[in-house]
Amino acid sequence: MSQDKLTRIAIVSTDKCKPKRCRQECKKSCPVVRMGKLCIEVTSNDKIAYISEELCIGCGICAKKCPFEAISIINLPSNLERDTTHRYSANSFKLHRLPMPRPGEVLGLVGTNGIGKSTALKILAGKQKPNLGRFNEPPDWTDILTYFRGSELQNYFTKILEDDLKAIIKPQYVDQIPKAVTGTVQSLLDRKDDTKTQVPVCKQLDLLHIRDRNVLDLSGGELQRFACAVVCIQNADIFMFDEPSSYLDVKQRLKTAVQIRNLLCDKNYVIVVEHDLSVLDYLSDFICVLYGVPGAYGVVTMPFSVREGINIFLDGFVPTENLRFRESSLIFKVSETADEEEIKKMCRYRYPEMTKKLGKISLTTSELSLATSELSLATSELSLATSELSLATSELSLATSEATSELSLATSELSLATSELSLATSELSLATSELLLATSELSLATSELSLATSELLLATSELLLATSELLLATSQLSLATSATIASHQRNYR
Ligand SMILES: Nc1ncnc2c1ncn2[C@@H]1O[C@H](COP(=O)(O)OP(=O)(O)O)[C@@H](O)[C@H]1O
Ligand code: SF4
Ligand code: SF4
Ligand SMILES: [Mg+2]
Repeated sequence: MSQDKLTRIAIVSTDKCKPKRCRQECKKSCPVVRMGKLCIEVTSNDKIAYISEELCIGCGICAKKCPFEAISIINLPSNLERDTTHRYSANSFKLHRLPMPRPGEVLGLVGTNGIGKSTALKILAGKQKPNLGRFNEPPDWTDILTYFRGSELQNYFTKILEDDLKAIIKPQYVDQIPKAVTGTVQSLLDRKDDTKTQVPVCKQLDLLHIRDRNVLDLSGGELQRFACAVVCIQNADIFMFDEPSSYLDVKQRLKTAVQIRNLLCDKNYVIVVEHDLSVLDYLSDFICVLYGVPGAYGVVTMPFSVREGINIFLDGFVPTENLRFRESSLIFKVSETADEEEIKKMCRYRYPEMTKKLGKISLTTSELSLATSELSLATSELSLATSELSLATSELSLATSEATSELSLATSELSLATSELSLATSELSLATSELLLATSELSLATSELSLATSELLLATSELLLATSELLLATSQLSLATSATIASHQRNYR
């Protein structure tokens, strides 16, 4: 069967299909499989069921029988097959046609979630090669350019391929940014600031006060404004913003929209995916609507004026294709007869100039006129500011008490260390005095020893003298004895 005649697509959800946990009811119930053709191929060992869109007759039985609701069989407008721009894989989402941006104009894209807006942006940025639906044998760029021959897209992709056009995308999911980049807002802006415009851009996007903050510590709205700023300060030919309004309040949305429009010059392209229709209205010069079945297929319409495009999206009907893509229109109720509640909202109050004196203090307020709705907006802003202030105060008090307890801990540690030091000092002084005492006792003992030694020496010398006197007396005695003996001898003779 030729590609042109395909009138349906079969989507099998990779998350929901679990062949190991079912009895492959889809395959067992398919009438085409029962006739012996491989319309559904799946065994309990497969990761996911495969459905042949060529063989499928669109009866929808498999979708009803699958216990996990993993299958969607969708009948397509019959003229779409020729226009397939991209399909991620078998039985997955398919994008038909592409929007064509124009230099010097802002292209707005609008459509429900899962309809292919981000896919279209990635393709137009050259970050996703369109496979024209041939996911099994993706075409090369020559085939792709041939496919787009005769349309503006041929020139556009040729320039992207030859690097004549540089594209940057502000990603849709800004909450993922802290996982991809680290550092302060300032350091990251410095790195990207080709145009040296970060100061006015940060001022416009209300980022000046958070430039020292780490991206890890930014709120959703701050991350959104930071992501937009990073794109706005760079040099590029194609600027793309995927849902720049999410996380932002009304004022911030408008300021961001003004900044985005400021990027426009004669030669560059600006493309914005936007759900807020008033922002889309302000931002865009022309609009392409995306319709289809979310998660299954998306079709890009031809370009329309802003007013026409927004009306087509709201009506759910494309007059140029005579195609209804939603059963009912989206209607914003505007009542012709205002009820009591609405009258209250519209009611304006005038406050005259007032002066209040309290002792020496005097307060004067100038004249003011406010509608109830403005008053309630002001009140809610005031209450928001008050709660932010109270949050800041409690953070400050927490920080103060933490600092105080740390200081007191440090002080007690210091005093403990001081007393330990003084204890050690007194022990040292005690040891020193004991040492001194021992030294003096030692010196006393030494002098006593030396006295005893000298007394001993004296006694020894006295002993020696006595000994020598004794010897002298002995020798005198022996001399006298020998003289006596000699006189006796003479007498005997
Ligand atoms: N890399 C991918 N592989 C498979 N399917 C994808 C991939 N990226 C997106 N899709 C699917 O394509 C469909 C369209 O996605 P997307 O272009 O992000 O839509 P939108 O921006 O309009 O919300 C979704 O069903 C999404 O799950
Ligand atoms: S589509 Fe359903 S029935 Fe078929 S294999 Fe997957 S989970 Fe089982
Ligand atoms: S829709 Fe019918 S024919 Fe097609 S795969 Fe399912 S059961 Fe088979
Ligand atoms: Mg998206």
